[in-house]
Amino acid sequence: MSSWARWSALFIAGFCCSLAAASDYPEAVLDIGRPATAEEVSAWDIDVRPDFKGLPAGSGSVEDGETLWLEQCALCHGDFGDSNEVFSPIVLGNVTDEDMTAGRVASLTDPAVVRTTLMKVATVSTLWDYINRAMPWNAPKSLSPDEVYALVAYLLQLGYIVDYDFVLSDENIADVQALMPNRNGMTMDHGLWSVGGEPDVVGSACTRDCDVDTTVTSFIPDYAMNAHGNLKDQVRDYGPFPGVQTAPVSSAVVESQPAEAAAPEATLMANGCSGCHRLEGALVGPGFDAIRERYRGQDVADYLTDKIKNGGSGVWGSMPMPPMAQVEDGAVAELVGWLLETN
Ligand code: HEC
Ligand code: HEC
Repeated sequence: MSSWARWSALFIAGFCCSLAAASDYPEAVLDIGRPATAEEVSAWDIDVRPDFKGLPAGSGSVEDGETLWLEQCALCHGDFGDSNEVFSPIVLGNVTDEDMTAGRVASLTDPAVVRTTLMKVATVSTLWDYINRAMPWNAPKSLSPDEVYALVAYLLQLGYIVDYDFVLSDENIADVQALMPNRNGMTMDHGLWSVGGEPDVVGSACTRDCDVDTTVTSFIPDYAMNAHGNLKDQVRDYGPFPGVQTAPVSSAVVESQPAEAAAPEATLMANGCSGCHRLEGALVGPGFDAIRERYRGQDVADYLTDKIKNGGSGVWGSMPMPPMAQVEDGAVAELVGWLLETN
């Protein structure tokens, strides 16, 4: 018996008689596992808090941020952070000089106004933290601290919060916090923050034969439905939260899809392709329907394999496809096979 098998046998034995006290377990069971090393913990412990606890030292200029932005972010968020295509706009927005002085963006209370990230976010640490952990969408956690500083600086400059020659660093980020347009916009006066706070929703512990009004009272008002374009046509179509139809549907539009080989949606999702490609119609990149059409019957498996691995531009337009080098060979082969499948 391998030592692993012996360990698991002991482990199971330990559980079967699960009322045994810890001292009844064989030594080997108690020996299972080890404390995480300081290095392992620090790899997970990356949050940056509003008081800047957790923020790594470093700096980055607006100018460097602009270069990085154009290379890695603009294709989804627009050159000026104002695109509403892949996600709602980050910059642009209805912010007045009075808002800047008050630290509260007044137009946020107008339900008809499109809300952008810089209008809403109260703490600059959140911007730093989010970009650091989640962006670029196709390669999260690939940015160095200095690059994150530069990108945050560039976004702040686009929002007129700092000047073009600004260099953001761990030493001056607290000063920037004092300039955030909605810095006084965060409310903590509700149940999410304090046990004694006003609850956001009225809950009930009742699960059976309840005398509780279950009418749904929360809804998106009509005028706000399509504020960010038709969600159904956007990226979230493929995500865990499929986009809902927010644009009015004309009765002429019928969901008609030609019967063809089922798309390997899980592979497309898992490898980040769905961020830029839809099954039908262009998004950041061409639709897979157009790609399949273009290469139908051609001997281009090697060409497409190379393009997916190494990226490139110019075939469909000037927008580049980034190298998707992290995608495993098996997945690339599956995707190329599907793209070239004839039907
Ligand atoms: C492939 C498309 C794509 C690329 C490239 C990309 N993003 Fe994003 N970004 C998204 C999507 C989609 C979201 C929303 C994610 C979500 O809500 O889960 C998002 C969200 C954000 C947000 C949060 C906005 C908010 O209000 O919550 C910021 C900030 C951001 N991105 C910055 C960046 C930066 C900086 C880069 C470049 C380093 C970048 N993004 C590259 C698609 C992209
Ligand atoms: C950040 C956006 C982005 C991501 C992520 C992305 N693509 Fe693309 N893709 C593009 C763009 C833009 C083009 C058009 C490039 C051109 O014009 O040469 C493209 C083109 C293609 C083409 C056509 C190539 C040609 O030369 O005709 C294929 C096939 C393709 N992508 C597959 C994939 C697959 C598979 C994935 C996931 C592993 C993926 N893409 C991820 C943006 C992206």
